[in-house]
Amino acid sequence: MASETEAFRVRRMLAEEANICEDIVRSLPEWFGIEASIIQYRRDLEHMECFVAEAEEGIVGLLAINQHNDYTAGMHVMAVKSDFHRHGVGRALVKHVEELLHSRKVEYLEVKILGPSRPAESYARTRAFYTALGFRPLEENNLWGEDSPCLIMVKHLACKGPVRQ
Ligand SMILES: CC(C)(COP(=O)(O)OP(=O)(O)OC[C@H]1O[C@@H](n2cnc3c(N)ncnc32)[C@H](O)[C@@H]1OP(=O)(O)O)[C@@H](O)C(=O)NCCC(=O)NCCS
Repeated sequence: MASETEAFRVRRMLAEEANICEDIVRSLPEWFGIEASIIQYRRDLEHMECFVAEAEEGIVGLLAINQHNDYTAGMHVMAVKSDFHRHGVGRALVKHVEELLHSRKVEYLEVKILGPSRPAESYARTRAFYTALGFRPLEENNLWGEDSPCLIMVKHLACKGPVRQ
């Protein structure tokens, strides 16, 4: 399945494109500044379902998801090249994933992000992005330790009907 807009199309990442995706993550040190995390993200890209947005210039963004169970999936890592911020790439990646998950009858999409109790302008922008796309804050906790409050945001995708026994 691929989604196209005028400027780019969203499709699955090919295994040989993991390097390009890692480079995009590395190009955003305000969000991805810890080497160990980058290395882990790189491994995760190869094992999770990962989607890329491809423009004439090549791959400009990525989104890897992790389906936790029949009902819920998480957005694990997402990055768009800074030159392409605010061009609709992030929205297109999320829409693509939402449509895929909807077809699987997954009901909730969640994302974890640095919470507002540790002010950081970069992450405030990212939270504004998620909020604009319909995600809502669920709770802030200490999953990542006291210095890095973790905000869980969630979006309701579809209703599956009565809970299965
Ligand atoms: C967050 C990110 C993925 C968003 O992707 P994007 O392609 O820039 O976002 P879009 O252009 O699709 O934005 C969709 C909507 O979100 C909102 N939005 C996006 N960026 C915003 C910002 N900086 N401030 C306020 N609202 C914002 C807007 O409502 C926007 O719609 P509009 O441009 O029509 O007003 C991208 O900016 C990014 O890679 N950031 C750095 C890495 C990151 O934050 N990763 C995720 C968590 S670690």
